[in-house]
Amino acid sequence: MKVVLERREALVGAYDASVSGFFERTDKDEPLPRLLQAEDAAVGGTLTHAWKARDFKGKAKEVTVLVRPDGRGRVALVGLGRRPLTPDGIREAAAAVVQKLKGRGVRTLSFRLATFAVEGIPGDEAVRALAAGALLGGYEFLRYKSSGDGGVEEVTIALGAEHSREEGSLRRVLDQELLLAESCLFSRDLANTPPNTATPEWLAEETRRLGRELGLKVQVFDEKKLAEMNCGGLLAVGGGSVHPPRLVVIEYPGGARSGKTVCVVGKGITFDSGGISLKPSSGMADMKFDKSGACAVLGIVRAAARLKAPPRVIGILACAENLPSGSAYRPSDVVRTHNGMTIEVLDTDAEGRVVLADALAYAVERYHPDEVIDLATLTGAAVVALGEYLGVLIGTEETLAEGLERAGRSVGERVWRLPLTDPHREMVRSDVADVRNIVEPRVAGSLIGAAFLEPFVGGRPWAHLDIAGPAWSRKGSLKWAPAYQPLGATGFGVRLVARYLLDGAK
Ligand code: BES
Ligand code: ZN
Ligand code: ZN
Repeated sequence: MKVVLERREALVGAYDASVSGFFERTDKDEPLPRLLQAEDAAVGGTLTHAWKARDFKGKAKEVTVLVRPDGRGRVALVGLGRRPLTPDGIREAAAAVVQKLKGRGVRTLSFRLATFAVEGIPGDEAVRALAAGALLGGYEFLRYKSSGDGGVEEVTIALGAEHSREEGSLRRVLDQELLLAESCLFSRDLANTPPNTATPEWLAEETRRLGRELGLKVQVFDEKKLAEMNCGGLLAVGGGSVHPPRLVVIEYPGGARSGKTVCVVGKGITFDSGGISLKPSSGMADMKFDKSGACAVLGIVRAAARLKAPPRVIGILACAENLPSGSAYRPSDVVRTHNGMTIEVLDTDAEGRVVLADALAYAVERYHPDEVIDLATLTGAAVVALGEYLGVLIGTEETLAEGLERAGRSVGERVWRLPLTDPHREMVRSDVADVRNIVEPRVAGSLIGAAFLEPFVGGRPWAHLDIAGPAWSRKGSLKWAPAYQPLGATGFGVRLVARYLLDGAK
């Protein structure tokens, strides 16, 4: 999908659909909003009649479509719900529109900016939200479909006279937002790829491809090299699969000469069966999304490089497939990791932390980063605690955590902090090794996961994003998902961390 900005009357009939937003009506005698008079004229007064008949109310995401009497295109209205309007409300509205118009022969549509940049929403925020909502909401993973429905191909954000003086700055804002959203879609495509294709080596190859495209250095450590590097965690988790593990590194040198170094580390389990501690088969198919953290890392590096973010960004992917077999690791194994610390494996399904131990240890040893951010579909407990639409954020560094919270609010990828405390740290101590990978009884699962990871970060400022909830949208709960996160991988974390790197990590 293409998104462009034009100084043009949105209602000229040049588009298959011209879209305007309006607030929910609160009073049944309320007249048609003044802002919609042009739309009413474009459909010969039908809107007024429909309004009087209370055919549409303006509830959030309600979409009404009217064909123009001359047959030249349609006028579409999208409800913005009750006041106050937020950028997130606009993102949802734009996403709802492109979804509603799918399969109706609508190829081109325009949003009339003046009906969205209202009541305290500045033009640039409205442009951002419309662009992100349309692009993210219109996404479908079609690579394996023989035929598609045919969706909206070109979206125009139509500037009226009110915004003509801002045109230059709105174009810059739009370009940046599009890059963030496209990087998110890039990440979704990777994460949606099924595990018979998306093996650890495939993730490595996709990283090499991205590196070539962006001119970035990529290193791939295979199982032989991992053995030399004492990465016993990655080797243990990947040991049950015929697709051996990989540690993958992609380096963006940074746009500012004195910028920070930020390591962004992702869990890349290409399929998590649980291993010998096998998961129940219901829901196991979703575990192809267990590589979402690593896929987000690639999206983040892509966005940072394309937008020339100030900090140096090192993307690190911990890739392995967790399967049971005669060569699989087992409960009671003790493995030695890259920094020399040992892990007592008590449950092979708590594998994410075991591969991340090596990746984090390598990150801090090799790059001495100013900040470390990891993204991982680490615990089912994160879904229990916060549900499917919020990420768990755990970290002891205030400025980093606050910067990520702020960035998340701004892009619509919200995270909520949980408190890591000393008792959690004590609970992961093992009787026979330095740490153990599960704790009985199973309490505070997400914090236990973070407490396990912390010693591998060697005291560096660190933030852990457990994205087990929002990494993908499940069919059964789609109706509660933000409309800009349709079925399948969401790319959660890409726009959040990229926004942080652009704004907050100077
Ligand atoms: N990949 C899973 C976590 C997960 C579960 C993500 C459901 C998204 C949805 C992870 O490897 C795992 O299995 N974690 C275990 C940890 C437990 C054994 C301590 C879990 O959450 O049950
Ligand atoms: Zn697992
Ligand atoms: Zn897992």
